[in-house]
This record gives sequence, structure tokens and C-alpha cells, in this order.
Amino acid sequence: MDTLDTLRNELLEAVQSAPDADTLEAVRVTALGKKGRITDLMKTLGHMTPEERRSFGQAINAVKDEVAALLESRKAAFAEAALEARLTSEQVDITLPVRPETSGTLHPISQTWDEVVAIFGQMGFSVAEGPDIEDDFHNFTALNFPPGHPAREMHDTFFLSEQEDGTRNLLRTHTSPVQIRTMLAQKPPIRVIIPGRTYRCDSDMTHTPMFHQIEGLVIDKAVHMGHLKGCLKEFVEAYFELPDVPVRFRPSFFPFTEPSAEVDIGCSRKGGELKIGEGNDWLEILGCGMVHPNVLKACGLDPEEYQGFAFGMGLERIAMLKYGIPDLRTFFESDARWLKHYGFAPHDVPSLTGGLTR
Ligand code: PHE
Repeated sequence: MDTLDTLRNELLEAVQSAPDADTLEAVRVTALGKKGRITDLMKTLGHMTPEERRSFGQAINAVKDEVAALLESRKAAFAEAALEARLTSEQVDITLPVRPETSGTLHPISQTWDEVVAIFGQMGFSVAEGPDIEDDFHNFTALNFPPGHPAREMHDTFFLSEQEDGTRNLLRTHTSPVQIRTMLAQKPPIRVIIPGRTYRCDSDMTHTPMFHQIEGLVIDKAVHMGHLKGCLKEFVEAYFELPDVPVRFRPSFFPFTEPSAEVDIGCSRKGGELKIGEGNDWLEILGCGMVHPNVLKACGLDPEEYQGFAFGMGLERIAMLKYGIPDLRTFFESDARWLKHYGFAPHDVPSLTGGLTR
């Protein structure tokens, strides 16, 4: 029994102190292999009496089980450590750097469009829109430019090809045709603001073939020029965010308004620097007038019952004046650097209460 006890301690010690899985396997072979020490001992059982065999056999089996259990647990520990080591060394980086934050900017035209709509929205106007491709009736005839009228020449019109009935559509030369569309579609009182693209066959420093206008139309009973002047003065001050801007009406001509005027705002040009709202120079910003009786009639309205006013201005022009953009053509060059410089934060929606620009 002494030898079995010594063998047990020796083997457990060897299992316990094996430094790695290979040594452990060697220990296993020495102990439990075909020619292992415990196996050898088993073989001696054959020479014993049945009583000896039973008690010694049990003792050997107990040692065998004990050694086998320890082997098993150490083997598992080595396997786990090996797995752990692999997991650390072979780790795959599944993370990705965050995408760079690229926030676009709002084009100055969109910004100006939103600002003008916000201002007139506050005064009770609603937005009306119309098609870019117009017919002669809406763009000219109904606006009191009869066929052959010389004022048509002032609009360098892009005509589309002739249709079967001999007429030609055109790219609208102003937003005024939407005046007609609005008056034909709804009964007064009318208060609409009409932003949109317009086209003229013209291209130089101060003209692009496509540009934007914003038009206003008010039709009601007893509307007069005082309303027009008050409305525009209010607009100019809100838009330029100045408490007081001198406004001057200069007689002019448009076929669809009578009387017609061009509106100038007070400014100074000292040292080549334009300052709006001060000084004694004038700067033209828009055209306007009282809606011509012929226009009202073309829309089925009785000029004895209804009157109104209309005005129209170039969005690029007022954007250039407010934001100091020197060259009109840059608006449509789509230069990302220009857009970054002159663009606006897309989530700052202009409002009179929250601020037009931030
Ligand atoms: N439609 C005119 C233009 O493009 C502007 C305008 C609009 C003038 C409304 C008076 C009234 O020149």
C-alpha cells in the first residue's frame, strides 16, 4: 500500500506541476497509457487472491479515477487558456471610425426665398406657385401685353417649338402669370406671394438666363396705393432687419399695372461701400403698381368693385444686397467653396419671431 500511496502522490504531483498541455499528455501516458504505471499495477492483480484482488483493485481504481479527474481538469484548464490566448491575439477590430460630420448649407436663394415668405406670411399672405412653362395668354395677353405690343420686346423670351395649333409655349419671363392663375382660381380677397424661377434670354455680369423672382398680389375692395407703400416699407425694414429704411416710389411703366412705380430704398455709397437705410443715395429694388383694370377684366373681375396692387422683385438682387454677394453669376456655378461661405445653416428656419438670420 505504501507503493500505491507513493505512486498516487507522485502522479498527482506530476499532473499538478505539468507546465503545459504536452507535458500533461506525457504524464497521462506514463500513468494511464498501455504501459503506464497504473496499468502495470493493474496487471499484478492476476497473481493475487480474490480477497486481495478486491481490496487492492478498489484502491488502484480509486487512485486511477483521482489521477484521471485531475488530468481532465488540468487539460480543460490548458485548453481554456489556449483559447483565451488565441482570442486575445487574433482579435478582429470590428469597430469603425465615425463618419466625418458633413453638414451642407442652404443656398442663399433658398434662404432669401424663405425669409421673404416668412415676412409676408406674417402679414397674412399665402404662397402661390405656377408652372415654369407658360403659354402666351398667362405670360403676356392676360397681363395686358396684347399681341404685337412693344412691351413684349422687353422680355427676351425663350420660346418652345410650335405646337399643332400653331401656338408656342414659353419659359415664363416673370412670376406675374401666377397673378392671372390665382385670380382665375380664387375669389377675392386675395393676398398671395409668388416665389419662383423665371427665364430670359440674357447673359452677362448682371443677368443669368434663369433667375428668381418673388411676386406679391393683393386684391380686395378699397385697396389703394397707401396700402402698397405701407406693405413694402414694412417688408423692406423686416428683410434688411433695420428699424427705418427710407422708401421712394418713382413713376415707371408695366403693362399690367397703372399707375406703376419702381421702388428705391435709401442708402449710402461712401468709399465704395454700400450701406442700406442711411445716407442720401437711392437704390432700386423692385417694380410695383396698382393692378390694371384690363388685367382684372381678363380674370373676370369687375374693376369697379375690386382693386389691388402687385409687386415683383428679383431674389438674387435682394440676396446680393443683404449678404454682400458681389457677382450674380456665382449663384449658379455650384462651387462648393462658395456655398460653404455664403450658405446658411439648414435647420435655422427664418421667422420674424425667431430671427430671419442667425
Ligand atoms: N413682372 C415685372 C417684371 O418682371 C415686375 C412687376 C411685378 C412689376 C408686379 C409690377 C408688378 O419686370
